[in-house]
Amino acid sequence: MRFRPLRSASSSGSIEDAPPPPPPVMRAAVLDAPGAGGGLHVADLPVPRPVLGELLVRVVAAGVNPIDAKTRAGAGVSSQIPAFPVALGYDFSGIVVTSPYEAHPLQPGAEVFGMVPFPRSGGSYADYVIVPSQSVARKPASLSHVEAAGVPLAALTAWGLVVETAHAHEGQRMLIHAGAGGVGHFAVQLAAYFGAHVTVTGSAGNTAWLRGLGAAAVIDYTTARFDEIVSNMDVVIDLVGNVAGDDTGTRSLHVLRPGGLYVNVPSGSWPGYAAAAAEAGVRATSYEVIPDGDVLATLARLLESGAIQVYVDAVHPLADAEAALRGVELGHTRGKVVLRVSEG
Ligand SMILES: NC(=O)c1ccc[n+]([C@@H]2O[C@H](COP(=O)([O-])OP(=O)(O)OC[C@H]3O[C@@H](n4cnc5c(N)ncnc54)[C@H](OP(=O)(O)O)[C@@H]3O)[C@@H](O)[C@H]2O)c1
Repeated sequence: MRFRPLRSASSSGSIEDAPPPPPPVMRAAVLDAPGAGGGLHVADLPVPRPVLGELLVRVVAAGVNPIDAKTRAGAGVSSQIPAFPVALGYDFSGIVVTSPYEAHPLQPGAEVFGMVPFPRSGGSYADYVIVPSQSVARKPASLSHVEAAGVPLAALTAWGLVVETAHAHEGQRMLIHAGAGGVGHFAVQLAAYFGAHVTVTGSAGNTAWLRGLGAAAVIDYTTARFDEIVSNMDVVIDLVGNVAGDDTGTRSLHVLRPGGLYVNVPSGSWPGYAAAAAEAGVRATSYEVIPDGDVLATLARLLESGAIQVYVDAVHPLADAEAALRGVELGHTRGKVVLRVSEG
């Protein structure tokens, strides 16, 4: 069998669909220095060059995550950024420009979504990204690029928490804090899909929406204390931690059954969680998202079948990346915020 040469065949196999070669420079929403007060602004950066096993992708849309806002503010992964200026961003949906080899399943022209290993090789708030081929999947056909860009980091995290860590199953009693956010809205849907009885914390304006996603009960954390309402939980997925000033993490330990599982998600939100959990007689773990393309392909099938959905709260142009991050920083996004980088 003979394969078409690199950059000549698209997902549909037609030579005409192959994207043009990339220019030497691209637009990117960049941070000039660690914790730069001026925030993100659009500047020219060299188009990154893929190495062994990587794809070069033209970005159509980029998802915004709280970690981007934390990094921009000088926390997050800012200490790991090797050089500035840098384009932020993990999530993207776009079109393959170059593929590792001629018979690779994702050829130039293929529509893909994925999560880049920022800051190792640059971010997705840019016209082009490079990404390991194992961290990518075909974009769900039923989703626009804007919708698909809202999926990777949040949905991979939700899958890692609900399926791989909590082993969601029929009748399991699960409490999910911040169910209305990016990770939370996927976690609620996945937990309900696998049969868990899901209780969620969220504000009153999100109650009906969260029930529509599969929550059996919603506790308005602004007016009620969840630890006075629920008990005997098998699992707590904590997307808040002890940072909000109301000890969400500490109080969560006391709503678990003996031996129940507490999952602390915002890294650094509560360094003492493990000792406190041991004292309370429950199990505990932290969590770190893994950009696994096979899981992403599974999530794509669930999205295409309608078993789960992505909710996009707001879409901003690339030039408004700074405003988008400031919005996410407020902590009340419903679902996801996405940057439109280019036309699809
Ligand atoms: N370790 C990892 O690998 C990993 C991966 C992904 C995310 N994270 C972290 O996990 C956290 C959540 O991420 P995300 O993307 O889901 O955030 P997000 O989209 O910004 O979450 C916003 C949601 O949080 C809710 N919320 C805010 N304060 C709350 C409280 N005290 N109780 C209950 N709900 C509250 C808001 O609901 P209302 O509007 O109803 O108030 C809003 O819907 C972030 O800290 C993020 O950095 C960690």
